Amino acid sequence: MRPAVADIVALFQAHFPGEPRVFRAPGRVNIIGEHTDNYDGYVFPIAVNMATTAAITPRQDRLIQVWSENMQELATLPLDGLERRGHWSDYVAGVAAMLEAEGITLPGADVCVASDVPIGGGLSSSAALEVSTAIALLSLVDHSLDGVALAKLGRRAENEFVGMNCGIMDQFVAVHAERGKGLLLDCRTLDYELVPLPAGEAAVVVCNTMVKHELGASEYNARRADTLAGTELLKAIYPEIRALRDVSSGMLEQSAHRLPEHIRRRCRHVITENQRVLDGVAALKEGRLEAFGDLMNASHESLRTDYEVSCKELDIMVEIARSLPGVLGARMTGGGFGGCTVNLVRPDRVTAFREEIAHRYHQATGLKPDIFVTEPMEGAREVV
Ligand code: GLA
Repeated sequence: MRPAVADIVALFQAHFPGEPRVFRAPGRVNIIGEHTDNYDGYVFPIAVNMATTAAITPRQDRLIQVWSENMQELATLPLDGLERRGHWSDYVAGVAAMLEAEGITLPGADVCVASDVPIGGGLSSSAALEVSTAIALLSLVDHSLDGVALAKLGRRAENEFVGMNCGIMDQFVAVHAERGKGLLLDCRTLDYELVPLPAGEAAVVVCNTMVKHELGASEYNARRADTLAGTELLKAIYPEIRALRDVSSGMLEQSAHRLPEHIRRRCRHVITENQRVLDGVAALKEGRLEAFGDLMNASHESLRTDYEVSCKELDIMVEIARSLPGVLGARMTGGGFGGCTVNLVRPDRVTAFREEIAHRYHQATGLKPDIFVTEPMEGAREVV
């Protein structure tokens, strides 16, 4: 749930005293550029119209008390003994631990969080929680972080505290997104460009398979290990490369026999996906939406067969989408193994698309999918 400011204040005051300040960070959907951010590659996500809201007041002691409206649970996090517990509050504890590791001494805090980003749905509910609580905690101290530092801090919380070796995409877009635009990010330099999406010509429709990506973290880390092993083998042949971003398809082909077959496929996904992002954004700028959609389709195939992070339900959802009129492109989005698909659909076909895909997916799987249309939204901020 994404409460209005008055509502989150009321929720806060049901648990804590005082008048809180309120901060919000969006979830994201990645349009193209999947599983590239860890390899210095390119991504092209947008922020969605679902977000995590955090209301906060300082405390006199060194305790962070967090009430999660979604979990209906209070977590108590001692700033002097923060540790990972395998619990939803690890994201908040991780952010607090990283802020303190940066030399920013925090006071205790009372925090109330509420989110309408589906949890485990591949829309980065975790980055929305990290970024919203990071800016909320920072509001209590006389210290600010720029957007890049904030995104890096969220990623560190996830890598070093939660134990998920994610890249920077989710936190970066949660901070830097702008309304109406996709964010082309170079994950090596962190240079980015905001590229308008032509809302009048194509709508972004997100379909939740309702399958949670529980395998996500372990398989995510396993794919990353494969791909980094591939990079090391390639470095022995091409000493100049630093990451897969520096390897062309031709270079990979020439050295294919030096890599185990599954590692070659992992690397091929990353290398071809980077090119699809660049080609896709060029097509978008020239108004070639069909070409962009074709690249989204190719991205799904590569994730399914080379990177192997799709699943039966994602494949069914994508296949149904592609059979419907007005669909320019359809692919899984996010880490995979469940979660959502992203579809680019002609605006006059959206209503029929929603009905038809919900019906056919239910027939095929017995599951009732959540389907929503989103415009690209703005990044994290204080809401008043
Ligand atoms: C997860 C990670 C991101 C990114 C995607 C796959 O969402 O958090 O950093 O790697 O998977 O593109």
